[in-house]
Amino acid sequence: MSNSYLLLRGTQTVDDRGHLVIGGCDTVSLAAQWGTPLYVLDESFFRQRCREYKDNFQDRLPEVEIAFAGKALMNAALCRLIQQEGLSLEVCSAGELYTAQVAEFPPAKMLLHGNFKSDEELQMAVAGQVSRVVVDCLSELQRLSELATACAKAVDILIRVAPGIKTHTHTYIQTGQVDSKFGLGISSGAAMQGIKLALELPGLNLTGLHCHIGSQLFALDCFERAVDLVMQFLAQVRRECDVTVQQLNLGGGLGIAYTPEDAPPTIEELAEVICPACQQAADCYDYPVPRLIIEPGRSIVGPAGTTLYTVGPIKNIPGVRTYVTVDGGLSDNPRPALYGAEYTAVVANKADQESTMPVRIVGKHCETDTLIPETALPRVEEGDILAVFSTGAYHYSMASNYNRFARPAMVLVNEGQADLIAQRETVEDLVSRDVIPARLRDA
Ligand code: LLP
Repeated sequence: MSNSYLLLRGTQTVDDRGHLVIGGCDTVSLAAQWGTPLYVLDESFFRQRCREYKDNFQDRLPEVEIAFAGKALMNAALCRLIQQEGLSLEVCSAGELYTAQVAEFPPAKMLLHGNFKSDEELQMAVAGQVSRVVVDCLSELQRLSELATACAKAVDILIRVAPGIKTHTHTYIQTGQVDSKFGLGISSGAAMQGIKLALELPGLNLTGLHCHIGSQLFALDCFERAVDLVMQFLAQVRRECDVTVQQLNLGGGLGIAYTPEDAPPTIEELAEVICPACQQAADCYDYPVPRLIIEPGRSIVGPAGTTLYTVGPIKNIPGVRTYVTVDGGLSDNPRPALYGAEYTAVVANKADQESTMPVRIVGKHCETDTLIPETALPRVEEGDILAVFSTGAYHYSMASNYNRFARPAMVLVNEGQADLIAQRETVEDLVSRDVIPARLRDA
């Protein structure tokens, strides 16, 4: 029996033919029916993760709002799932906001983020298409105030602060440190300046503070420190400005396991740290217990996603290594190239076989797009189906058309049923926005 049993998550099982099964669907049949690369989303596992967040946080604090971070994965069907699970939604662009609108997601449960929002995006907020804007800088306060007053409206805002916490994660996804492009620093005085400006300007209702310290975090003490620093700052705001701001948005960040060696904290453990920290800080600074918002992305949808590929050429370089090529790579998963991210894979049609063959798994792009530098697979052959785990977050949402590859399709699987939730792009889609100017056509 292979060690793949150690890696299975959600509804994943291996059937008696040795095929990987997700949501009651044979992944080998899914690959045959929908083609590869194919993103497969395990619906019940996804829903379970949403519920784990709600149950664990809402049991421990009087008022908690869980807002799914749309940047992790966003499409219209996903918005429906989020809504059905009673979660709010965090969007960070006109595109994400429009997607939510198409899915008829309630504006009252949406927050708009971004460190450089366009006028179009701010205008969408003024028009009531989201309920809150998380403002990142002083000039945005000015612009939003002008747009809101021009329409005789008032917009609820949170101000994003940088608490000055450096987290243990890839530098590209650290966001709470002093040296960050996001938010207004507490220690520099910029955050207080932002609060005072927000209170002065017409058309803005200051409802809360926001901080997101980083992503793929395994150490929970940084969340505790973030709560303490922001609550201490809120108490200072109350002293200096005579306002009591109630919403505390702590962003997302909980890490997930990509390999069997990864041991991230559970959602329950996260709640066990954050909720008492809010209570303690409230006691310590004699401040009302905040209305907590958290914005998990990866830890909800990451483990619920699997990518299926077809295995292509296998190249053995004697004395060096064996390269196994799959029919995707950099364009459907840029994370190894960007962050040195690690993954675990099984051969979906040989999931019951011993992994005896050391290999390097690579993509088919005109780059050295290594997906997994060193792993072991059963005796793999061309035409096999490879399943890469934990690809639900920041894969489809970060996919590109590099080398003019069409983005893969996504299916939602549950209890033996597979439904298409994102169509595969076609080569026609790829050229649909190309323009040949007349002078080139006629030449
Ligand atoms: N809230 C804000 C304001 C954020 O910027 C993010 C992620 C989240 C919530 C959700 O964080 P999560 O729970 O997913 O860690 N592309 C990178 C991750 C970038 C995260 C950006 N912000 C990756 O593939 O690892």
